[in-house]
Amino acid sequence: MCGIVGYIGPREAYPILIKGLHRLEYRGYDSAGIAILNDKLRVYKTKGKVSDLENFVKDKDLHGTIGMAHTRWATHGEPNDVNAHPHFSQSESLALIHNGIIENYAVLKGELLKNGYTFSSNTDTEVLIQLIEYIKVKNNCSVFDAVQLALNQAVGAYAIVIISKDDPNTLIAARKGSPLVIGIGEDDFFLASDATPIIEYTKNVVYLDDEEIAILKRGEELVVKTIKNVVKTPMIHKLEMNLSELEKEGYEHFMLKEIYEQPKTIFDSCRGRIHKEIHHISLAGIIDHKDKFINARRIIILACGTSWHAGLVAEYLFEELAKIPVEVEYSSEFRYRKPLIFKDDIIIAISQSGETADTLAAIELAKSQGAFIYGICNVVGSSIARAAHTGSFTHAGPEIGVASTKAFTAQVAVLTLMALAIAQEKGCVDNELFKEIVDELEAIPQMVTEVLKQDKNIKEIAKIFTYARNFLYLGRGYNFPVALEGALKLKEISYIHAEGYPAAEMKHGPIALIDAEMPVVVIATNQGTYEKVISNIQEVKARKGKIISIITKGDVTVKELSDFYIEIPEVKEMLVPILATVPLQLLAYHIAINRGCNVDQPRNLAKSVTVE
Ligand code: AGP
Repeated sequence: MCGIVGYIGPREAYPILIKGLHRLEYRGYDSAGIAILNDKLRVYKTKGKVSDLENFVKDKDLHGTIGMAHTRWATHGEPNDVNAHPHFSQSESLALIHNGIIENYAVLKGELLKNGYTFSSNTDTEVLIQLIEYIKVKNNCSVFDAVQLALNQAVGAYAIVIISKDDPNTLIAARKGSPLVIGIGEDDFFLASDATPIIEYTKNVVYLDDEEIAILKRGEELVVKTIKNVVKTPMIHKLEMNLSELEKEGYEHFMLKEIYEQPKTIFDSCRGRIHKEIHHISLAGIIDHKDKFINARRIIILACGTSWHAGLVAEYLFEELAKIPVEVEYSSEFRYRKPLIFKDDIIIAISQSGETADTLAAIELAKSQGAFIYGICNVVGSSIARAAHTGSFTHAGPEIGVASTKAFTAQVAVLTLMALAIAQEKGCVDNELFKEIVDELEAIPQMVTEVLKQDKNIKEIAKIFTYARNFLYLGRGYNFPVALEGALKLKEISYIHAEGYPAAEMKHGPIALIDAEMPVVVIATNQGTYEKVISNIQEVKARKGKIISIITKGDVTVKELSDFYIEIPEVKEMLVPILATVPLQLLAYHIAINRGCNVDQPRNLAKSVTVE
């Protein structure tokens, strides 16, 4: 939920730190702070965005070649200057930044208060740095030893960086449950919550694992030990993404750029995985464990938000193609409802960030009961990707806009490949059907390009409904999850209340909402229960509801019933979700822009919900 950056080396730290914070601001942006060590350990922090921090430090002493910085999304203690990170220890000889939650902070705080410690903030983070100092003083030990001992007492999630004013040559970092990446430069080290602040300096990175502590010492090799003092050999990865992926590339917002990237990202999510000539889908995660999938009694999909909607599409795909029963669960519900989990269950965890706390916890629960975990993530090296037994990356590139767009369509594409691969292994799909589906899947990127050409038409429709107070989204079958996703996109960036519903269910209550003020978006493509959807449209019209329909190109029937329509190319029903979602992303985007909303950083939201 927060963004962390650290630097130690020959260069001035401040420019690297502040630029890194800007790259991470999507992770949380209600307060920001920086610590730089030169003759003194200086901490500057303020409520607000990174730009507010830049203004705040304009006339400050920012010289120093070791430092760390933090952009916050509040979990404990409201967003204000005092609760912003970094936090000093009592003697001000140590400073710490933290992403995560120390769950037993109250107990630890009680002990520290008894030992004469006082606190200036309401944060769990300040408790951690005070605990480290308390242990250091009490045991007369090194900062590293104190950190190690403290992390054996702390319960919860953390990605932390610590600087000691007495040691200008060392940064100490540690993680558990929150991400932390180390960049290995020529003669410098970089630290960040993900690789985006690092990539312009080095492509060599190490992903810290849970309960690992890193010692980044000037002029020395990286040292990694666990909190139990086991020495680890750091595994250096080469970053594949490039800096341009991080820029907006001329688009006004990251969200618009990411909507327009979808032809490429859908292609990339399938790249190298389709071997049509031999009727084969190569997903290593499936191939290496095909017996598990062939014998699977049940698939449980764990996810949150948009990823949960992708899971709903997968339910239809796996049951239709691979003939395996599927249950789609909200991770947050699954982890607390004492679910029945069997050893031959397959868990598919879907997460763009790979850091969603509820999904991570749900995986650990299922793993502890012997289930097999397959991760579908977009971030290499993310916690969920590494907690799973195996999985497939969506290769959609960094998704900076808080509202997920390209990650969703990439997830659905990979899930389609998975369902096909398993169906192949089980002999549920003949070569002819396999080829039909794959031919259409390979044509999807071009079809998305076609749909994007309707952006102007969609922008005109958005103008008319910019000030609607409510929206209803209706779909059936594969298009029911599309209705949910369209509604989520609208509400999370335009703040208009919107509800997705199975079209037939509208009669069981929501139809009472329909009047001339209610825009109703209907995904009414010409497959599946097309005729039934037409009846639903009639029911809405009879109550003066305004119809905005997503129709199959050339469909006249629904077009004539609609007040506004958006056409998409004809594809098999199972592939409609990828196509039909794109116009709904654009509709939400344009309405939000018309309303003056911050589409990349909507209020109250953060890109990665790494707390419960
Ligand atoms: C999507 O637009 C939302 N920002 C949110 O629902 C998101 O999908 C959810 O938090 C899950 O995130 P994840 O895919 O990174 O696990």
